[in-house]
Amino acid sequence: MILIVDFGAQYSQLIARRVREAKVYCEIIPYTYSIEQIKEKNPKGIILSGGPASVYVENAPKVSSEIFNLGIPVLGICYGGQFIAQEFGGKVKRADSREYGRVKLEINLNDGLFKDIEQDSLCWMSHTDYIEKAPENFEITAKSETCPVCAMKNEEKKVYALQFHPEVEHTEKGREVINNFLYNVCDLKEDWDMGDYCQESIDKIKAQVGDKKALCAMSGGVDSSVAAVMVHKAIGSNLICVFVDHGLLRKDEGDEVERVFKDKFNMNLIRVNARERFLGKLAGVTDPETKRKIIGNEFIRVFEEEKQRLKEEFGHIDYLVQGTIYPDVIESGTATAQVIKSHHNVGGLPDDVDFELLEPLRQLFKDEVRQVGRELGIPEEVVERQPFPGPGLAIRVLGEITEEKLKIVRDADFIFRDEIKKAGLQNKIWQYFACLPNIKSVGVMGDVRTYSHTVALRAVTSSDGMTSDWARIPYDVLEKVSNRIVNEVDNVNRIVYDVTSKPPSTIEWE
Ligand code: XMP
Repeated sequence: MILIVDFGAQYSQLIARRVREAKVYCEIIPYTYSIEQIKEKNPKGIILSGGPASVYVENAPKVSSEIFNLGIPVLGICYGGQFIAQEFGGKVKRADSREYGRVKLEINLNDGLFKDIEQDSLCWMSHTDYIEKAPENFEITAKSETCPVCAMKNEEKKVYALQFHPEVEHTEKGREVINNFLYNVCDLKEDWDMGDYCQESIDKIKAQVGDKKALCAMSGGVDSSVAAVMVHKAIGSNLICVFVDHGLLRKDEGDEVERVFKDKFNMNLIRVNARERFLGKLAGVTDPETKRKIIGNEFIRVFEEEKQRLKEEFGHIDYLVQGTIYPDVIESGTATAQVIKSHHNVGGLPDDVDFELLEPLRQLFKDEVRQVGRELGIPEEVVERQPFPGPGLAIRVLGEITEEKLKIVRDADFIFRDEIKKAGLQNKIWQYFACLPNIKSVGVMGDVRTYSHTVALRAVTSSDGMTSDWARIPYDVLEKVSNRIVNEVDNVNRIVYDVTSKPPSTIEWE
């Protein structure tokens, strides 16, 4: 098992994901863990993550230096590497400007970490501080034009440090570097997979929940469906699923969800019609973060009311199951990571929640959730569904939400989805939808001036939703979609296609 010590990096989960991809079991722990807690885990190797701090600031994150005396390999990445340099008496320096981007590595080819990696391979740097001088007894194993110590090691103590990020896609041979650490340096084998992950998670849920009861916040999307099926496998009929129809769903979506989960999975599912209540609370609200908070809050209130209502026939419910996944967590902000947007199930939650949360997918990326879904036997039509955000169309109608705007976006979105399906593109695009940017413009229809809404089409490719590119949809498909929307949807006279990647945009417009 590999322990990843988190120093507050945006990328800690990416490191974990790479280790999982290498079929090695790993756990992430905060840097505040004591040496006794670390020893108890009995790791075969430790990876120290990057982090936003400088080793020189007061209260800089530290982990016990006893980890270097456990006789197991330690790999430090970026801040983790600088921490190693400082602990062993090297020199860490603040650069005049941040180094951000790809750099060519000159490597010592005899090093185990760089086995089978060619000279001049590109790696991704993102740092201000850097290791200026390696400690005594450390050998420099890679450098670049601008960075004197891109990698260093003390083979006797099995301590390795990297200034660059092997975990990100932009580092060409990053996976190989991590695999070399796992297989060559730590001598681990491929002996763990997503099937094991499912079983371990089910066992953990069983142990945690015991014979208590849980309510699952079910949206019909991939994440909450996988979470529901996983918890169902663990606690069976002690799980009840509640699907809240907040009036912000896509066309016919509510009925579809009910059909799939009642008919196919034979699960306890209650559909709550809360349309008026949600739209009432959102009336006149224009700020995106306020909308998200209102929705997160209302969801919880509905679940609490259901909990009360179900008390007699179902019994007391302790847990709320949510399909929260890692990008929801990191984008909603953590102790160290900044808020990008408050996902309704994390940052949008009220402070006083009358449930204990159960979030079995919190560590996973979307494509991993899909793998887990397949392991659990969930049909492809559900596992492959495109993501749909919990706040639904509320964040696709920019500014104030009205019934008229919801109808426009719902009808336009239906046409877009229909044409994508007809063109056979549905499995090639991560997510595709219409949104209403709250812009009216002048047009002409049948010799008459119009002043109507603009619909924006968004379609992106991605592997995990953390970064994305705009999908190159063939022009003839876009043409059909555009013609159909202006002809079939009232009050629309202009269609635009969003050609921005994430970053700098996000996938949703709010
Ligand atoms: P962004 O817009 O942040 O979206 O680039 C990344 C992915 O997350 C989905 N998304 C959400 N999902 N609750 C959710 O369940 C939310 O509040 C939320 N906001 C964005 C989005 O659709 C995309 O797949």
